[in-house]
Amino acid sequence: MEKRVISTDIMEEDYKIENSLRPKLLVNYIGQEKAKANLKVYIEAAKARGEALDHVLLYGPPGLGKTTLAGIIANEMDVNLKITSGPAIEKPGEMASILNNLQDGDLLFVDEIHRLNRQVEEVLYPAMEDYVIDIVIGKGASARSIRLDLPKFTLVGATTRAGMLTAPLRDRFGVVHRLEFYTLDELTEIVIRSARVFKVEIEKEGAVEIARRSRGTPRLANRLLKRVRDFAQVKYDGIISEKVANFALDLLEVDKLGLDNTDRALLMSMINKFSGGPVGLETLAVSIGEDSGTIEEVYEPYLIQNGLIDRTPRGRVVTEKAYLHFGIS
Ligand code: ADE
Repeated sequence: MEKRVISTDIMEEDYKIENSLRPKLLVNYIGQEKAKANLKVYIEAAKARGEALDHVLLYGPPGLGKTTLAGIIANEMDVNLKITSGPAIEKPGEMASILNNLQDGDLLFVDEIHRLNRQVEEVLYPAMEDYVIDIVIGKGASARSIRLDLPKFTLVGATTRAGMLTAPLRDRFGVVHRLEFYTLDELTEIVIRSARVFKVEIEKEGAVEIARRSRGTPRLANRLLKRVRDFAQVKYDGIISEKVANFALDLLEVDKLGLDNTDRALLMSMINKFSGGPVGLETLAVSIGEDSGTIEEVYEPYLIQNGLIDRTPRGRVVTEKAYLHFGIS
């Protein structure tokens, strides 16, 4: 039987759009070799025992495949997948209701799990540990607490900010994996696979060019692929060659390192306004009119990974490589 995917909120649109590109099986998932190898063992073992998989926490920068992996785990375990997110659940009762409606073995995916509020999070503690929830009935002196048994479910939590999880929540995950940026080869393979899904012809060099500018992130690679496909269709013969890719990506203002306008504004501000740093995150955020959390979660990880900025105790500094990239001596 085809298992169901049930989503509760705005995740739905996002999930649908990307869904056609998402691999359904672990063998079709490219990259993240360590997480893949480990999960394969845990899935096999849990299936052989006829048990639910232990709770899994996936963390790392956005767009690296946390939702995709959750979908694959559900598929491999042959269970239903229910998708929600931290900010979507406002009251403890909502979480209790979601948990209570799961079936044995079901996988509950909670994206941005660091954004669950404290009361909601506390419902998860006994649920994750003992598969029970405590519900308070009545008010004041006559209030009573009753304990409800839950099905044996698997919670897969995803976060871009592992450091923002409370210790009690983090400790209840049996499996914790950090997702890494993808290599150029891995991203190239993903672009070629996605092009096949889109039924668009692509040359290896075209795929490499898209991959090179995708900052190690499949979501971005797929987004750029769609845009380049449009250019190939309208302005060229429909085939994504290196030339088409370069032409389109230059127009999209994604440079050879995959930096976009915000990345460039950030680096140039550090160089021009702060003599290359050190500069504090908040100051930097104000200087380019961007949210500091977004800089920290979305922009900085790739810039640091690529050696364009360094974090020091006194703030962020621009590296030599960044100056070279902009042709500034
Ligand atoms: N599409 C998005 N991420 C992917 C991955 N890691 N492997 C294969 N296809 C993908």
